[in-house]
Amino acid sequence: MFDAATRTVVVVGAQWGDEGKGKLVDVLAERANWVVRYQGGANAGHTVDVGSRCFVLHQIPSGILHPGVRCAIGNGVVLDPETLFTEIDLLVADGVDVEGRLYVSDRAHLVLPYHKLVDSESPASKEIGTTGRGIGPAYEDKIARRGVRVVDLRHPAQLEALVARGVEHANAMLEHNGSPKRVDVGQTLDVLRGIAPRLLALADDVGLAVHRAMKSGAAVLLEGAQGSLLDIDHGTYPYVTSSSTTCGGAATGVGLAPTAIDAALGVVKAYTTRVGNGPLPTELEEPLISRLRELGHEYGATTGRPRRCGWFDGVVVRYAVRVNGLTDLAVTKLDVLDTLDRVAICTGYEAAGDVHTEFPSDLTALDDMVPQYEWFEGWKEPTGGARRMDDLPPAARRYLDRIEQLVEAPIRYVSVGTRRDQIIGS
Ligand code: GDP
Ligand code: IMO
Ligand code: MG
Repeated sequence: MFDAATRTVVVVGAQWGDEGKGKLVDVLAERANWVVRYQGGANAGHTVDVGSRCFVLHQIPSGILHPGVRCAIGNGVVLDPETLFTEIDLLVADGVDVEGRLYVSDRAHLVLPYHKLVDSESPASKEIGTTGRGIGPAYEDKIARRGVRVVDLRHPAQLEALVARGVEHANAMLEHNGSPKRVDVGQTLDVLRGIAPRLLALADDVGLAVHRAMKSGAAVLLEGAQGSLLDIDHGTYPYVTSSSTTCGGAATGVGLAPTAIDAALGVVKAYTTRVGNGPLPTELEEPLISRLRELGHEYGATTGRPRRCGWFDGVVVRYAVRVNGLTDLAVTKLDVLDTLDRVAICTGYEAAGDVHTEFPSDLTALDDMVPQYEWFEGWKEPTGGARRMDDLPPAARRYLDRIEQLVEAPIRYVSVGTRRDQIIGS
């Protein structure tokens, strides 16, 4: 992706998350100087297989597995310090050197224990099927201007007042939701005092650091979390996460100009999955849904929940190409379809005799829409060893060609297995 003219690249999920962003970021990070997360928090689960080891990163950018790459957590992320430190310690125990190359924006908001409690005790969160990581409540506090930022840890007196406000609101929410549980200012402050020295040692003005790196010609990867259909504005609201997952969020979430972004790589699975509730127009039925789930090991990397599975939805990805301005696509998990007799692509939704090819904003309209499928013969041979497009069976290439044509973005990468080397494209 990187060349003389393309120095800043966003990697964004173009479905409902878990598209394989971690794998693509790891592959691309080989040629990057910086990898920066711009939104979301520990709700993300980005899997990277390196040799026989499998890393699942929730809070730290997936570039961390390449020595020498600088990694940062941008201001748009809601940062869970407990997860961050657990993750750092696990990486260090695994021989990954994190020291001196991980930065945290001092403007990032903190996910505090009471955010997680409010999330897990909320009927609304259960209805959406959130990850329970406190994401919604932390972003609510941010927008309502009662959040606690990393920078606040520098000022103990102000911190106490901020926490008191946050705790008061959290307790009101717990009471409102009929929960007997309550949180406490003293306990929360104890947690914060415990983590402050370690967190402040990582704190920096990430926007400025990335800006300076860009000016000196650095290759910068902006790593999205979740997926475009989980975006707070463009997703299947209210069945979404609480952040701007799409490319626009990358600029505000790192603190750089939208014009600084040179390319946007959308990551999609060769089929569709979703974890949590909300519409999934191409969702399969038994027994195929279980078969695809087992073939693709479709269980959430953060919560372990079984993922819902469906055929590739061309309407969804076409929409994601538009709202992100995707310049390229990476199609992952093609190998998962290797044994199927036939595979389908959804080309439009039919309702009252009309075929819709634009994703609707009104979810109730989706209820009456019936996906229209184009069927393709299965290729029935393993693709895991393919390293060039020419190595793929003709039937698999026909399938990919149709996706490219339908969604109006070029496929630059095809991933055919979990390993780093199982990738086509450069
Ligand atoms: P992310 O959240 O977008 O980073 O994706 P996840 O890590 O949650 O889920 C993707 C899963 O698919 C992980 O278990 C990856 O190891 C796996 N994966 C990624 N690319 C491929 C591929 O091309 N083939 C197969 N079989 N698995 C893949
Ligand atoms: P990565 O980065 C898939 C889903 C949850 C739920 C909704 C809201 O690994 O692709 P939240 O906890 O964010 O308030 O939950 O969003 N969700 C994800 N689904 N991949 C993710 O992240 C997700 N992060 C959140 O299941 O439906
Ligand atoms: Mg994931």
